[in-house]
Amino acid sequence: MATILAGTPETRTPAGAPDDPRARRRERFLERMGRGVAVLCSAPELIKSRDTEVLYRQDSDFFYLTGFSEPGVAVLTPHDGRHRFTLFVRPRDPERETWNGPRAGVEGATERFGADAAYPLAELDARLKALLEPADAIWYALGSNEKMDRRLVSWIREWRLRRARSGKGPSDVMDPAGILDAMRVVKEPEEIGAIRRACELSAQAHVRAMRAARPGIGEWELANVIDSTFRAAGPDAGPAYPTIVGSGANATILHYVLNAERADDGALVLIDAGAEWGMYCGDITRTFPANGRFTAPQRRVYDAVLRAEEQAIAMVRPGVTIAAIHEATRLLLARELVEMGVLQGDPETIAEGEEIKRFYMHQTSHWLGLDVHDAGDYRARGGDWLPLAAGMVFTIEPGLYIPAAADDVPAEYRGIGVRIEDDVLVTEDGCEVLTRGVPVAPEEIEALVGADAG
Ligand code: GLY
Ligand code: MN
Ligand code: MN
Repeated sequence: MATILAGTPETRTPAGAPDDPRARRRERFLERMGRGVAVLCSAPELIKSRDTEVLYRQDSDFFYLTGFSEPGVAVLTPHDGRHRFTLFVRPRDPERETWNGPRAGVEGATERFGADAAYPLAELDARLKALLEPADAIWYALGSNEKMDRRLVSWIREWRLRRARSGKGPSDVMDPAGILDAMRVVKEPEEIGAIRRACELSAQAHVRAMRAARPGIGEWELANVIDSTFRAAGPDAGPAYPTIVGSGANATILHYVLNAERADDGALVLIDAGAEWGMYCGDITRTFPANGRFTAPQRRVYDAVLRAEEQAIAMVRPGVTIAAIHEATRLLLARELVEMGVLQGDPETIAEGEEIKRFYMHQTSHWLGLDVHDAGDYRARGGDWLPLAAGMVFTIEPGLYIPAAADDVPAEYRGIGVRIEDDVLVTEDGCEVLTRGVPVAPEEIEALVGADAG
């Protein structure tokens, strides 16, 4: 039987190879744990309807440390010299595999994924407790998996009652996110390579959608151009999140995923779509006129958002904070809204208060990686904003959304929604925009829209 090559090229790095990034990450994770035992659960298998399942997508933390794309439980024990990495997996089962595809099994878990020991998931109850008992702490994301939560809470209660005489059993539960988020927020070279591919593919799909656009095209048709471009790129590729195509006033709905209307002649179309490539995400938004010509008010709003994006990109370098970029973006957009006559008053007061949120209600940035809204703190426990560092990847996505029903706003701006979103990699002295395969300049967009329309 042919081997199915699922996952990223890094997943295909044989376990034990000197450049296996997952082994490297586990070592760093184990070092930072210092004490205790870590328990990580895979993503749950979800039902779409009745007995049809949602396409399985591995939990990002689990994947980051194991590269394993099937259901399972990973246990990391820093103080066990022989078995530092144990995997519980679905065992090989010819009948189940005939129905649902190949499994790595217990053998694959050790041979291909570098586990020091592997057991069938059915043995979890019998073996996990013994693995945990010698430790004084458990690293586990309490609340992430109901079954594991219940199992651990019941054991912790038991250990607590007996500890006075037994002298054993973990008492502390600590969140592995404290370690993992800090690791994941700075991307390794392999990860940057995968994100780069996801961004290039995302840009390519946006260009295709712009070229296919014409007045009267269904939002779903444009979504299909995007999604089919992603899927055609290979078995590791697909949409990172449900593609958003909002024409006209639908562009003012942030997560409009119905994609059920036709783009009117004269309407703007907002597409927010990103590819997942080998588990890593791209995230791009472009807004363009369905007929290839911005009207004057559309162009006015577009230029305001573009200026905000350009200012934000110019700010990115190590040491700057995501909060400072957001603050500067809000202020610039507030000034633009006052100039347009959409808001009245002092731009600084508008930007600092609630007023700006009527037209710009989301953040300017989020981390990007294995998750679209990737793991990583924006501020420390004390509340200080964390400075950017080389290797971080995040989005810059200013927007203005003027509701159709905003009857206190000049009529020409009502129902206009514009967002421009790009993905940037922080470098030693600035940033690299990873998504410039699709233009942002309005003239370039106008030249592209409809180029392939029949
Ligand atoms: N596509 C979701 C976002 O832009 O954050
Ligand atoms: Mn985004
Ligand atoms: Mn987006």
